[in-house]
Parts: sequence; C-alpha cells; structure tokens
Amino acid sequence: MTPHINAKPGDFAELLLFPGDPLRAKYIADTFLEDAVEVTNVRNMLGFTGTWNGHRVSVMGHGMGVPSISIYAEELIRDYGVKTLIRVGSCGGVAEDLSLRDVVVATGAGTASLTNRTRFAGYDYPAVADFDLAMACQQQAQRLGMAARFGTVFTNDLFYGSDPALLPALQKMKVLAVEMEASALYAIAAEHGVRALTILTVSDHLLKSEETTAEERQKSFGDMVELALATAVQPV
Ligand code: HPA
Repeated sequence: MTPHINAKPGDFAELLLFPGDPLRAKYIADTFLEDAVEVTNVRNMLGFTGTWNGHRVSVMGHGMGVPSISIYAEELIRDYGVKTLIRVGSCGGVAEDLSLRDVVVATGAGTASLTNRTRFAGYDYPAVADFDLAMACQQQAQRLGMAARFGTVFTNDLFYGSDPALLPALQKMKVLAVEMEASALYAIAAEHGVRALTILTVSDHLLKSEETTAEERQKSFGDMVELALATAVQPV
C-alpha cells in the first residue's frame, strides 16, 4: 500500500488508462473491460483491473491538476510497476480549426506549473509523449477511421483567471489546446523510464461558444477510450 492507493502488490496491470474523474474510471471498467475488479478506493479515487481483448489493463482516476496526477502517477509507477500510462481527458480548444468533440493527442506539453522546473534544476524540461505510443496511436486512429490532431498542448494550473497574455501566446505558438496534467505525467514517466501519452477530447473552446449534449460527450469519450485501449495494447 501507498499513502494514496490501497491496492495489493500485483493488483495493477502494466497498462493503465488514466482519466481525471474516478467515476469515468468506473465507467471505463464497467463498459470496456471484462472481469474488472476494484483494486483501490482511497479518497474515492477508484482504480480497477480487468482485461481488454485478452490483455490485462487497469484504469484509475488521477484527479484534477498537476499535484494530483503527480501523486498517483508516481505511486502507480514506483510501487505498482505500471509501465504504460495513457491519460484520457478533456481539453479547452485553442486552435481555430478545432471543434468540440475533436480528439487531440498531446505530442508535447508546455506548462505554467513549476514542478517540472523543480525536477530539472530550474530549466525548461522538454515534456513530450512517448514516441512509440504516439506512433501507435496514429496508426490505431487511422485503422479505426478516427480523425485525431497531433500537436502541442499547454498544462495550465489555473482553470479560472489565467494571465490575459496566455491565450495570444498559445495562438502565436500554434498550441492546440489547454488542459491541466499532461506536462507532469510526461516528466514523471521520463524520470522513471516508462511510457506515457495524453489523448483528449475538446470539451469547450476558448475562442468559440459552442455547446455539446451529454449524449455527444459520451460518444466522443467512448471513441477516445477505444483509441486509447487499442494504442495501449499494440506491441511496439
Ligand atoms: N482549461 C483547462 N483545462 C481544461 C479546459 C480549459 O478550458 N477545458 C477542459 N479542460
């Protein structure tokens, strides 16, 4: 056990899907995995292990923001031997040609968080996705006939009240979207020599006022989970 996970050694698979919301973790386990069992529930941050197409797979919530995902990622990798972590989450669109429900794959992530600088002697750490996983994801998206945009995202600390200069800078540098965890996940995975990827659906757009129905959001979430599972199990 760790301070934040009450699973037994061996309870987690080496492949893990990582949604922010623990109830999304339960939904993924109930809907996509076979023989899924709950393996952890400290603070209601639920985790499950089951199988998908014969492969052992776990799914666990990581909460919101860099501090939260940093705790769970570190303990899952260090204490439970997780080797592949695929965050499945939502993002705010920045690129003009992104629409709600589009899938964005974060090949790299800048950040407002100081945690990567703390890890990296005060310098800018190059927080990038695992290259093989990103390639596998592109192949699987093509196979599944799913349009996915590959590019950079920005991991913000503030959901409300960001610096007004941020949005023009993101646009200038062609950053696709904002979210709140990818840069930390990539740095922690790199430090421990394991693989990480972040797949997102656009839940809102910073420049457009569009709305989605709950049904549409569920469908795009399901498509993203299919893509993440296919990517996770593809041998590299
Ligand atoms: N900002 C940060 N994270 C997000 C957003 C956003 O607008 N939308 C979904 N996740």
